Amino acid sequence: MSWFQCCMSEERVNRNSLKKSIKEYNDTKTLASFANLSFKSGKNRGRYTRKEIKKLGKGNILAQTFTFRELCVATNNFNDQNLLGEGGFGRVYKAFIQTTKQITAVKRLDPNGFQGDREFLVEVLMLSLLHHPNLVNLVGYCADANQRILVYEFMPNGSLEDHLFGTPSTKPPLDWNTRMKIVEGVARGLEYLHETVKPAPVIYRDFKASNILLDEEFNAKLSDFGLAKIGPIGDKSHVSTRVMGTYGYCAPEYALTGQLSTKSDVYSFGVVFLEIITGRRVIDTTKPSEQKNLISWAQPLFKDRRKFTLMADPKLEGNYPVKALYQALAVVAMCLQDEPNTRPLISDVVTALRYLAVNKDSDEDVEDESETESVSGSEFSSYSCSTSPDRNYIGGKNVDVEGDGR
Ligand SMILES: Nc1ncnc2c1ncn2[C@@H]1O[C@H](COP(=O)(O)OP(=O)(O)O)[C@@H](O)[C@H]1O
Ligand SMILES: [Mg+2]
Repeated sequence: MSWFQCCMSEERVNRNSLKKSIKEYNDTKTLASFANLSFKSGKNRGRYTRKEIKKLGKGNILAQTFTFRELCVATNNFNDQNLLGEGGFGRVYKAFIQTTKQITAVKRLDPNGFQGDREFLVEVLMLSLLHHPNLVNLVGYCADANQRILVYEFMPNGSLEDHLFGTPSTKPPLDWNTRMKIVEGVARGLEYLHETVKPAPVIYRDFKASNILLDEEFNAKLSDFGLAKIGPIGDKSHVSTRVMGTYGYCAPEYALTGQLSTKSDVYSFGVVFLEIITGRRVIDTTKPSEQKNLISWAQPLFKDRRKFTLMADPKLEGNYPVKALYQALAVVAMCLQDEPNTRPLISDVVTALRYLAVNKDSDEDVEDESETESVSGSEFSSYSCSTSPDRNYIGGKNVDVEGDGR
C-alpha cells in the first residue's frame, strides 16, 4: 500500500463514524450484487425498473423518485429555453424542483436512443451507492412508463469539453492552474472508483471531456455512469467484455480485444489530460490528416524536449510554468503506454499531480530548452504511444462495436 493510500484511509477513519463504515460496507456489497442485471421488455418495463432499483439498492438508494408530471413542471415542459446540452443519449435541461427549491439538471433519455434500461439502472445504482466530491450527485430519477429521466445536481460551469473546445466568446480559455485543478479532481474521482470502492474496483469506461462537469469553482466531477462496470475480483487483471466507450479515448487493448481493466481508464485519463494541455480534441476531422488524431500528432513531439512547448495550448499564450508542463507531459506519456501493465496506477498519478501542484509556480531547474535529448532515458523512460488512427469510430459517439450493448 502506498503512503498516499494510507493517508486516505486514515482520513476516512477519522471522518466516518463506525455506523457509516458499516453502511458503506453494505453499500459496496450491494454494488457487487448488480454486476449481472436482468432486464424486461414490454409495457411493464417502468414498474419492473423501479422494482429492480429498490431490490438491488437494498434500501440504500437515497435518490428521490420523481413523477413525469413533476419533471414537466420543473423543466417548463422540457422547454428548449431550458436546454443545457444534448448528448448521444438524450437532452439535458435546467430544472427547478419546487418542493426542495433546488436547481438541477434533468437528463431525459431518448426512448429510441442507445442508452437502454441497463445503462439507466446502472447509472441510478452506481450514483446512489458511490459518493465522492469528484463524482456528480444524483438527486433522483423518473421511470414512469417508458420515460427514463435522471435528475442531477446542476453544474454551473457545464462540461470541460465546452471550455476546452467551445467558442472563446462564450467561454474564456481556462488558465493553467484551473486546468491542473480539473486534472487533479478527476484523477481523485477515478482513484476513489479504482482503489477505495470494495470489494472490486469500478471501471468508469467512458472517461472523456464531455463527461467531466464543472461547478462554480471549477471543481471537476465525473458524470455518466451508465457504462461503468464492476472490475475484476482477486488476482484477475481484467474483465472481458463488449467494447463500449468513445472512439479515441479507448485504450488499445480494450478496443482490440475487449480486455477491460482499471488501466483502460488510466489510458483514457491520459488522453483527456493531453486534450487539456493542448486544447486539441482527441479526434478532430476538421484538421489536416496528420493532425486529426491527437495521439499520433503528439507522438513525434514527445520524442524531442525542444518541442514540448509546441504542445501547449496556444490559448494559454505562454502563461504556464515550463517545468510543470514537462512534468504534466511525462504523466500523460506514462498513461498512454500501449502495454496496460506499464501504465501507472491512478493513485500514483494523483501523487504526481499533488507534487506538480505544490511546485506549480516554480520554473527553477528547467533544463536548457535547446537541449535535444529525447524523452527516453529521462523521467519519461519507457513509453510508447498508440497510433492506430481508425479504431471503432462512429461519429465521435459512444459505440458498441459488437452490437448488444453489454
Ligand atoms: N449536471 C449537469 N449540470 C449542467 N450541465 C450538464 C449536466 N449534465 C450535463 N450537462 C450538459 O449537457 C451536455 C450533454 O450531456 P450528456 O447528455 O451527458 O452528453 P455528453 O456527455 O455526450 O456531452 C453536457 O455536455 C453538459 O454541457
Ligand atoms: Mg455526459
